[in-house]
Amino acid sequence: MRRLARVALLCLGCGLCSLLYACSQLAQSLEQEAPRRRGEPTFPVRRQLSGGGGWRAEAGSPGRRERRPLWPSERCKNMSVSYWNSYWMLPSDVCGMNCFWEAARRYDLVKPSSEKMHLAVVACGERLEETVTMLKSAIIFSVKHLQFHIFAEDPLHRDFKGMLDGLAHQGKFNYTLYPISFPTENAAEWKKLFKPCASQRLFLPLILKDVDSLLYVDTDILFLRPVDDIWSFLKKFNSSQIAAMAPEHEEPRIGWYNRFARHPYYGKTGINSGVMLMNMTRIRRKYFKNDMTTARLRWEEILMPLLKKYKLNITWGDQDLLNIMFSHNPESLFVFPCQWNYRPDHCIYGSNCQEAEKAGIFILHGNRGVYHDDKQPAFQAVYEAIKYYSFGNDLVHSLLLPLELELQKTQHTYCGRIYKVFIKQLTKSIRDIYDRRSKER
Ligand SMILES: *[C@@H]1O[C@H](CO)[C@@H](O)[C@H](O)[C@H]1NC(C)=O
Ligand SMILES: *[C@@H]1O[C@H](CO)[C@@H](O)[C@H](O)[C@H]1NC(C)=O
Ligand SMILES: *[C@@H]1O[C@H](CO)[C@@H](O)[C@H](O)[C@H]1NC(C)=O
Ligand SMILES: *[C@@H]1O[C@H](CO)[C@@H](O)[C@H](O)[C@H]1NC(C)=O
Ligand SMILES: *[C@@H]1O[C@H](CO)[C@@H](O)[C@H](O)[C@H]1NC(C)=O
Repeated sequence: MRRLARVALLCLGCGLCSLLYACSQLAQSLEQEAPRRRGEPTFPVRRQLSGGGGWRAEAGSPGRRERRPLWPSERCKNMSVSYWNSYWMLPSDVCGMNCFWEAARRYDLVKPSSEKMHLAVVACGERLEETVTMLKSAIIFSVKHLQFHIFAEDPLHRDFKGMLDGLAHQGKFNYTLYPISFPTENAAEWKKLFKPCASQRLFLPLILKDVDSLLYVDTDILFLRPVDDIWSFLKKFNSSQIAAMAPEHEEPRIGWYNRFARHPYYGKTGINSGVMLMNMTRIRRKYFKNDMTTARLRWEEILMPLLKKYKLNITWGDQDLLNIMFSHNPESLFVFPCQWNYRPDHCIYGSNCQEAEKAGIFILHGNRGVYHDDKQPAFQAVYEAIKYYSFGNDLVHSLLLPLELELQKTQHTYCGRIYKVFIKQLTKSIRDIYDRRSKER
């Protein structure tokens, strides 16, 4: 009797296993068929790329004519199937494999996405056009709603308003203009630090009291991928992290801080504050270790003493103060890789940002004025492509393809030599936009 029961149990087990196996095979085969069933999709870049028109975004031997789709398995890495659907009813953009394996975790993924992303910039002097171009790049690629906080000298407010209201029909963003302001007792001192109003950024957690988290960027930033993606680092912060930045240098031999700084700095080569993601709730709450008193100080208490102590030793103004601050509180910084803040330093003497070589540039940072002189034509080409793009025009034909032609002309420079790195992510971002649009239809 007992043996009979054991045999029955074994049979049941085997049956269950083969059922599972059959299901996963079905899912897999559905998946492999999917691209063919879908045919060449509506996304124009893909047609360009695989149609043998001679234009390819990826490096590779031009002679080879493989019919392999250029984005084969990437789609299946996306595990965001947030609703139940039986296989035979799967929409063309969902992978059978994912649906199968994800069934168990499905309910974690359902969440409302009403959250707004806050982006701040500080614009003084001649930076109007550059700032609007930066905002434009954020609008083109981002998915969720954007709230812009623009700090500008009073004479610029009217022009900002005019230019932004011109973009407003995009419906994707809201903006607020603020005057430049410093704590009254030391305003003069803060104003003359480094550039006239750069140090404004240090006071954002105190001025924007009602904002939980904020992405601060310099005016000379260009987004080549959705703001949503850098914003998602906020959720990756561990309990002690309050802000995220990229290293100032990848290559210590040409690093500035490790060779010249006369003050403490973060890590091996310091950090760059041109792209700074902040959980300001945490910044406002934290008590910072410091080298001025044994007591820990809050953000609003630490800035002035820090400036007083180091003002004769700092070169890059507020960025140096941030370096000093995080050198004493290193556990509070989340460091993201260089392709999120890609500067001329990463390529002018040869390429040294390996992450960008692999995945492309995500955020371009044209510091040293390279968008406006002819020293780094590759940076300038990207800037002009976005500046002259008009909303509504096809992104492939009026942005991507002309940009690639311009970049090809820059191959006499070190940065131009790796020009494919400049459009790798851009190509992907544009493809994602077309994919999203075809889904909405
Ligand atoms: C994954 O797919 C979902 C919907 O299918 C989409 O909203 C999301 O942007 C995709 N994520 C990536 C990283 O492609
Ligand atoms: C944009 O801002 C205005 C006022 O600041 C507010 O009333 C409106 O609801 C905002 N729109 C969105 C979509 O958040
Ligand atoms: C400033 O630099 C000088 C010269 O390198 C150094 O002796 C001094 O200790 C520095 N000051 C501070 C506050 O670190
Ligand atoms: C910022 O930190 C606070 C306090 O830890 C937390 O409640 C909030 O969710 C964080 N914001 C984001 C966007 O993660
Ligand atoms: C958070 O991450 C940082 C950097 O990796 C680390 O130094 C710190 O100890 C971590 N904090 C906690 C609470 O795990």
